[in-house]
Amino acid sequence: MERYMLRADPYLFGGGEGLRKKIPFVPSPHDVVKKMLSIADPKPDELLIDLGSGDGRMVISAARDYGCRSLGVEIDDVLIDHSRRRIQRLGLKNAEIVKADLHQFDLSDADIVTLYLLPETLKVLKPRLLNLKRGARIVSHDYRIPGLEPDEVYIVRSEKTGRNHLIYLYEID
Ligand SMILES: C[S@@+](CC[C@H](N)C(=O)[O-])C[C@H]1O[C@@H](n2cnc3c(N)ncnc32)[C@H](O)[C@@H]1O
Repeated sequence: MERYMLRADPYLFGGGEGLRKKIPFVPSPHDVVKKMLSIADPKPDELLIDLGSGDGRMVISAARDYGCRSLGVEIDDVLIDHSRRRIQRLGLKNAEIVKADLHQFDLSDADIVTLYLLPETLKVLKPRLLNLKRGARIVSHDYRIPGLEPDEVYIVRSEKTGRNHLIYLYEID
């Protein structure tokens, strides 16, 4: 079942470190993914990382449509298997899913980081995101990084959900 609104759940997010992994899988609709990628505009020599890559749709679209190196970080085995199988079926050599905790994953090579995570998680990630290389772009679906002014805010009306989705762009200088 696909749900299309990522909501904070106090039972999942009130409990500190041990419960961080319980961010639910809620996919970004394909039309939102497309818009996020057009905003990020990955170049073929760039690396895009989707933190919490779900069913791999962002990673796959980036690799297939932009020819960039594309890497998903995911913790859920079922989602990892599903996205790896799709990548293999499509024969995408420039796409990869890594099983890892997004809080531990090294972001130093990233040119683009895409996010569909709750504010609580974005707050924890903030220092590491601010440490991305110069010129890097962060594109966040629906939630802004707490306490950080975005460079641009976009509104996309999704055909799939029938609602407006917000996309925040941050550029590292
Ligand atoms: C809201 S979904 C977003 C999926 C995808 N990025 C998209 O936009 O369609 C968040 C994803 O983060 C994954 N996740 C949750 N905690 C994680 C962790 N600690 N490390 C890696 N992935 C995690 C979930 O399994 C889920 O697939």
